[in-house]
Amino acid sequence: MSKAQAPARFIVFDGGEGAGKSTQVQRLADALRARGEDVVTTREPGGSPGAEAIRGLLVSGDTARWSPETEALLINAARADHLDRTIRPALAKGQWVICERFADSTMAYQGYGMGLDRAWLEVLRKRLVGDTEPGLTLIFDLSVEVGLGRAIASQRYEKMGPAFHDKLRAAFKEMAVSKDGRKRVVIDAGKDVDEVARQVLHAVTSAYGLKP
Ligand code: TMP
Repeated sequence: MSKAQAPARFIVFDGGEGAGKSTQVQRLADALRARGEDVVTTREPGGSPGAEAIRGLLVSGDTARWSPETEALLINAARADHLDRTIRPALAKGQWVICERFADSTMAYQGYGMGLDRAWLEVLRKRLVGDTEPGLTLIFDLSVEVGLGRAIASQRYEKMGPAFHDKLRAAFKEMAVSKDGRKRVVIDAGKDVDEVARQVLHAVTSAYGLKP
């Protein structure tokens, strides 16, 4: 009998704006380090010098700065570099990788939000990500009103308006229950910070068979 393969030690925090993902990435990293684990935290777009340079092109300027197609290609270029220079080397060393946003964001923002062909985005994802899919994605769910209220509207995407962000919330919820074989858990990001950290730790210990 073949043993089921353990999920990759690659955890993604995804979802809309202002949901507290950055804080919770740090909380989880601290909790894992306290258990003696070696953890790398990173983010998208970004996470390697080249990808951070591309991030600068994406998050600044006018909302109409890029066509959705150009934008998706920039994001995927950043992702390819991030995977090669940061994520795969860390996983190869046995480190945990905790990443704020990943390919589900591209499907939500550029696919559902901006209307790009979702099948094309999926082809790009499969081509670039290959076997390096996350073992677990936590979808931070929060009302758009609260999320945009918390966000500072200083970057391009936060200026895209509530109707756009409503589409994203629905998209992430749809992906959370999709049968695409990728493991996702929805986190109620409307709770206080300690309760959200508890939900995150519970999802992680359950998915990886760690002590609660
Ligand atoms: P953030 O780090 O503050 O979340 O900013 C990154 C922004 O980039 C965020 O508003 C969402 C956007 N984004 C996309 O539109 N598509 C993507 O694939 C990724 C990773 C991020």
